[in-house]
Amino acid sequence: MALHKQVRKVTTHVLNEMKLRGEKIAMLTAYDYTLARILDQAQIDAILVGDSASNVMAGNDTTIPITLDQMIYHASSVVKAVSRALVVVDMPFGTYQGNSKEALSSAIRIMKETGAHAVKMEGGKEVLESVERILSAGIPVMGHLGLMPQSIHKFGTYVVRATEDDEADKLIEDARLLQEAGCFAIVIEKVPADLARRVAEEIKIPIIGIGAGSHVDGQILVLHDMLGLTQEFSPRFLRRYHNLNQEILGSVTHYIQDVREKDFPNKNEQY
Ligand code: KIV
Repeated sequence: MALHKQVRKVTTHVLNEMKLRGEKIAMLTAYDYTLARILDQAQIDAILVGDSASNVMAGNDTTIPITLDQMIYHASSVVKAVSRALVVVDMPFGTYQGNSKEALSSAIRIMKETGAHAVKMEGGKEVLESVERILSAGIPVMGHLGLMPQSIHKFGTYVVRATEDDEADKLIEDARLLQEAGCFAIVIEKVPADLARRVAEEIKIPIIGIGAGSHVDGQILVLHDMLGLTQEFSPRFLRRYHNLNQEILGSVTHYIQDVREKDFPNKNEQY
């Protein structure tokens, strides 16, 4: 029987077993109680409280402005909704780069104040000291390589990453370093499918792709994008499973019309 049907609570160990068995890991983002509850009911394996909340919840252009307090608010709402999935929380920009002591205290705040199960950090060698320090406190860490939105101003564009050999070699080396440090999984964003496949074959911990093709150990998408709530963002890798933007627009327009035409509320909808 497939592991996702047998196991009640998904742990980092379960994700590792899924990779060994060749079972794909399904992961999505969530930032609030109501949607996280639906994801957990649907038996999603893992939920990322992504710093993409900065874009889709707060309307910022980048993930850079979101604060640790704001991530903690989103994560504690998600954790309350979840009884099965592993909950991973993004460490926001500025809480771990260049200062491993601050990194550890940020990660401890996330774990203590939200009840989440793990944190995620962008970068390889540059953030290794912080990754190691957090891991030494017994906090599971997920890495994030390839397109790293927190470094957008360094690159200036969201185009596909690691298309040249030197960047691809660095990505593989960073994945090795993260694995050796003890990370339990790595997200790889927007890189050529062949490179992602190589990483998933060479690295023993689960590789979760977004825009990284099908030969990785699992997939993640931003929930608001795959549900069609967001409209502006349309990269090739995004499959839209719904057009909620249009559906909500239709319902709200209908409601406005009913109120204006004095159709709502009717006799049965009042006391
Ligand atoms: O913040 C986020 O949603 C992410 C995913 C795109 C992997 O990091």
